[in-house]
Amino acid sequence: MRMYDLITKKKHGGTLTAEELRWMVEGYVAGEIPDYQMSAMLMAIWFSGMTAQETTELTIAMADSGDRVDLSAIAGKKVDKHSTGGVGDKTTLICAPIVAACGGCVAKMSGRGLGHTGGTVDKLEAIPGYETAISREKFFSIVNECGVSVIGQSGNLAPADKKLYALRDVTATVDAIPLIASSIMSKKLAAGSDCILLDVKTGSGAFMKTLDDAIALAQTMVAIGEGAGRRTVALITDMDTPLGLGIGNSIEVAESMDVLRGKGPHDLTEVSLRLAENMLYLVGKGTIEECRRMAEQSIADGSAFETFCMMVRRQGGDDAVLRDASKFPQAAVQVEIRANADGYITAMDAEKIGEASVVLGAGRETKDSPIDFAAGLILHKKYGDAVKADDVIATLYTDSTQRGDSAAQLYHEAITIGTEEPPVRPLVYARVEKDKVVRY
Ligand code: URA
Repeated sequence: MRMYDLITKKKHGGTLTAEELRWMVEGYVAGEIPDYQMSAMLMAIWFSGMTAQETTELTIAMADSGDRVDLSAIAGKKVDKHSTGGVGDKTTLICAPIVAACGGCVAKMSGRGLGHTGGTVDKLEAIPGYETAISREKFFSIVNECGVSVIGQSGNLAPADKKLYALRDVTATVDAIPLIASSIMSKKLAAGSDCILLDVKTGSGAFMKTLDDAIALAQTMVAIGEGAGRRTVALITDMDTPLGLGIGNSIEVAESMDVLRGKGPHDLTEVSLRLAENMLYLVGKGTIEECRRMAEQSIADGSAFETFCMMVRRQGGDDAVLRDASKFPQAAVQVEIRANADGYITAMDAEKIGEASVVLGAGRETKDSPIDFAAGLILHKKYGDAVKADDVIATLYTDSTQRGDSAAQLYHEAITIGTEEPPVRPLVYARVEKDKVVRY
């Protein structure tokens, strides 16, 4: 087989066979296919697309490029969750312990922040002492004991994706549905859970800016998951506005604990409950309505919060900060952002707000830059809220006035204040199951 011939075939809109895709993925990971040929292939895929069958075969070849985690040492059905990335998206910290408190099982490997979007591993590492790199045996025993453990992704999970993602990033080929779907699903298949809940974000802070594209991506990923024998459901949720009021690592942990104790903001609580009820549904805990009631009950009786504290203690973390957020290390500098007119907040550019959080120190400027866990933002007014000129609409937290000033400028650019109250937008736009899309 020659890579030249496969590139030519795809360039003319042809369909690659399972054998050709596997040969290509294995050759690329082994260093036998050079980056310049793989770049040409990625661009050919970007223009010509892939059939559902090709996307599934590509995903399976990528999942097989490294370790496949065997979770059979953990009793019960395991459910995984994946978000396509957002700003202020801390839902894993909320729905994973809810599912565990209701008898589900979550053995989850999470990632770090990417660009303007945050990552669960960074948030968990804001908890003093919490270890995200633990042995497989310890991971399994924590899930068996607490129903949940969240750790960092091991280095050899879908190495083909790691290499391909880095190449896509520099060849303008990230935004192709077959490539995003195979990237995400190869890691989910390799991570070994029986069921997968996908949270596909749409809006200004998401990869998929339109609802139709988000639904198309969700359908592709659900088909891959089901084709590989995993029960898979996707929710399409809003990322036009940041989720919740807090952005930044320890700020988001504190806000998640507020939700688990029944006093979190409405949007974050609702999206987390919708995700949790679907995860419980996938592992067979009842109808969606029954699962919703169980999830709500686990917040009301404190069991979800205590489950999270137990997992944190077992992973070496100090749960005192979960019970009292003022015990988190605090930022040295605070900057207040004030409204510059009377009116309503009619738009919030979530991507720009995510960039402001990176400038404050909550995300990475480069792959290896350190994170300031105390840095971030608290939003006092959000989309649809009425404001008066000079009202404080957000507070920024950082370690220097220079960072604070740059982020303040970005924040002002991200906010639009208009005179008309804007329409209410849904938090969840659609639910995608095998062969079924329900729009809300
Ligand atoms: N997240 C991933 O893991 N891969 C993509 O291609 C996009 C988002």
